[in-house]
Amino acid sequence: VIKDVKARMILDSRGNPTVQVRVVTEGLGIGVANAPSGASTGKHEAVELRDGGKEFKGKGVSKAVENVNKVIAPTIIGLNSRHQYEVDGKLIEIDGTPNKARLGGNAIVATSLAVAKAAASTMGVPLYYYLGGRTAELLPVPLLNIINGGVHAGNKLDFQEFMIVPAGFNSFHDAIRAAVEVYHELKTVLKNKYGPSAVNVGDEGGYAPPLEKIRDALDLLVEAVKKAGYEPGGEIAIALDAASSQFYREDKGVYVVEGRELDRNEMLELYEKLVGDYPIVSIEDPLYEEDFEGFAEMRRRLGDKILIVGDDLFTTNPVRLSKGIESNAGNAVLVKVNQIGTLSETIEVVRMAHENRYKAIISHRSGETEDTSIADIAVGLSTGLIKTGAPGRGERTAKYNRLLEIAEELEKPRYPGFRVFPRKP
Ligand code: PGA
Ligand code: ZN
Repeated sequence: VIKDVKARMILDSRGNPTVQVRVVTEGLGIGVANAPSGASTGKHEAVELRDGGKEFKGKGVSKAVENVNKVIAPTIIGLNSRHQYEVDGKLIEIDGTPNKARLGGNAIVATSLAVAKAAASTMGVPLYYYLGGRTAELLPVPLLNIINGGVHAGNKLDFQEFMIVPAGFNSFHDAIRAAVEVYHELKTVLKNKYGPSAVNVGDEGGYAPPLEKIRDALDLLVEAVKKAGYEPGGEIAIALDAASSQFYREDKGVYVVEGRELDRNEMLELYEKLVGDYPIVSIEDPLYEEDFEGFAEMRRRLGDKILIVGDDLFTTNPVRLSKGIESNAGNAVLVKVNQIGTLSETIEVVRMAHENRYKAIISHRSGETEDTSIADIAVGLSTGLIKTGAPGRGERTAKYNRLLEIAEELEKPRYPGFRVFPRKP
């Protein structure tokens, strides 16, 4: 039974305020969780409540903190911490808006996760076990963003994320080792080619070299993989997050890529060529956030080769995902707890995805904290996939380190490798 709920302001990885919630149960369980924060946020996401005004350049969270302490706490104290659906239902009810705008998605998500952690702690089990029980034994294949572009970096790359996918290994440990080796090899390659400032990192820990061309970034990944002694496509594949809503011009109906205006069909042709030329296994947000039809066309053309992932398209929203499933839009959903706001709704989205043969990729945000819930969620819900940045910057490595810990704790850890993708490229 929930005995105490308390929120406070902490800082995220970009130095902005965010919400931390601590839940204590009568069984002496303690759960602490932090709200992350996106930069390339989707239009349909839960709203972060920010104070406005002068302090923290308007990004203060004192109202969100107060909402937890004064509104949420009295409502959920006394409820059973193991009744996640009931607790989350209350949060949704007292908020009363479709996008968590009144209490704040940041207030709600930190509370929802802290309740689950407190329940797990009361039972004396890890969060992944609390969520998945004995079936929780699948480690996720990580998508590691090692070249940052878009709004996460100060360069001119239009696509936001260039990721390596160490799928050709038998264990999570070996996969991380190879990814780290490639990350360091890439650093050397970049330094030699573009000088020392090319290895400055972006928001998600990937390098932010002064590149302009998508193919240049992809060539660098392939080079780094080879120089690290691995086979591109055989052991280490590539994934992209175009985050295309960021360079879509709604007035003209075109995408501006490397200075050229491309329509939907030209974008699809671009992706087909890239998939033909590089060992790509996944492309996220290839088209802008309202184009369900375009995502369906992309699935017809590339769905047997790669994951076509909706992030801004679905915003971890069960209503939007079910619309996508009906129209065969893409074949995978990116899952961010703070996009929808509660753990229960997140679990619903993952279930819905799995029941309809969509993959679910548990994801961090570009603004993160030391909170490692998503590592446990990926294992607990057996998604087999996680996206949580480069193996650099503490808020990113915290998740990988937690997964290494979980891998060691599990009796029979399994690593799915290329089986979570439509094919080995
Ligand atoms: P965000 O980016 O956290 O800045 O929204 C992550 C993503 O687009 O996947
Ligand atoms: Zn994205």
